[in-house]
Amino acid sequence: MEKFNVCIVGGGSTYTLGFLKSFVRLKAEFPIKKLVLFDIDGDRQRPIGEYGKILFKERFPELDFSYTTDPAEAYPEMDFIFMQMRAGGLPMRRKDEHIPLSMGKIGQETVGAGGMAYGLRSCVDMIEAVHQIREYSPNAWILNYSNPAAIVAEALRREFPDDQRILNICDQPENIIRSVSRLLNVDWNTLDPVYFGLNHYGWFTHIYDKKTGEDLLPLIRKTVHEKGFLPQDAEQRDQSWLDTYGFVQTMMEDFPDYIPNTYDGYYLYPEYKCSHLNPEYTRADEVIDGREKRVFEEAAAVIKEGKVGDRFHAISDAHAEMMIKVAEAIAFNTNQRFIVIVKNDGAIANLQNDAMVEVVAELGINGPRPMRVGTIPQFYYGLLAQQVSCEKLIVDAYYEHSYQKALEAFTLNRLINDAKKARELLDALVEANKGQWPELK
Ligand code: G6P
Ligand code: MN
Repeated sequence: MEKFNVCIVGGGSTYTLGFLKSFVRLKAEFPIKKLVLFDIDGDRQRPIGEYGKILFKERFPELDFSYTTDPAEAYPEMDFIFMQMRAGGLPMRRKDEHIPLSMGKIGQETVGAGGMAYGLRSCVDMIEAVHQIREYSPNAWILNYSNPAAIVAEALRREFPDDQRILNICDQPENIIRSVSRLLNVDWNTLDPVYFGLNHYGWFTHIYDKKTGEDLLPLIRKTVHEKGFLPQDAEQRDQSWLDTYGFVQTMMEDFPDYIPNTYDGYYLYPEYKCSHLNPEYTRADEVIDGREKRVFEEAAAVIKEGKVGDRFHAISDAHAEMMIKVAEAIAFNTNQRFIVIVKNDGAIANLQNDAMVEVVAELGINGPRPMRVGTIPQFYYGLLAQQVSCEKLIVDAYYEHSYQKALEAFTLNRLINDAKKARELLDALVEANKGQWPELK
């Protein structure tokens, strides 16, 4: 069986340990011969890399494993590159969330003003990174889940229009399917969804039972009404995530047609959401005090003891598993279905062709083959057309170094929706992102 060379860009991420373990657990399905972690922050990556050395010595000694801060070491001869970089790191995520909230608007990682701020940073860093990767590995598959994926996908589409081996993907639709499976008490692999939207802004129009073909949506609607909604891995989640999933119930009471992505809550209820976020302590703070601490403590403990042992089973890795399955589908041409981000080209009939949309696709050796959803209702069309415009304008702002385009994007965003407020937010974020954004004129 063929074995693959894999690189993780953003090796110092809190998600990397999950990947290292998953590569071990899934080595029969997705066999790899070489794995390299790459990060520009060597200090952050080192403990994760050292953990990896210990883990693979125990459980995967034949793997050629290394970690580096040098692109010339990381990128040559790669088959798959998993991109999980966070432009500006968690300290900048904190600012993306705190600054808008301190000004009375939603501060969130990927949506609203904070998402656009992160988007501009990611345009800069992602475009540079992909150019570098292509110097060394012109044919590697680039599997990107760096955020904000909607804006990143639009920027990469424009920068690399002929590159057929860049795939943008997010785990949240799958997380929701898994959560539905928990609610119905079925195996999530028996569910066959139909989905449309933009990244972090979409809906399930149907969830079919693969075996019988029955559309389970009416049953799901009824069950959510009676029991509420929980993430599949509720036991491992912080309260803020439980609230976010729980809010699906409210959304389905008000808009019962479809099952929403959890992120829709920000767009549909900006005032309510804003009033329930704490400007002094946001999700970024929670991650810094929680997951980040746990991951680096785990790495430190393993390094100290010199063995992983039973710790192999700590920390969930559903996200890593999904991404490895994505690579497997491409590598072995399985045409398994995933919800991915692709150029629209008619998948959503009444949305512009050059929008980057999120839909179900069969995934194989030549990439995704998306499935059409037809014409979406006026309400959803209105929401999405506005947000597509916003995302495109932010990418325009990046390319043209245009303050005006950024102002238009901020004004158009449903979470801001006011030109004066947009200008205030933009000015504050220009200041906070000095050196990390293109200079806007
Ligand atoms: C989901 C989204 C990701 C996002 C993450 C944030 O998985 O799909 O795009 O980055 O949530 O989770 P966190 O625990 O860091 O707030
Ligand atoms: Mn996502």
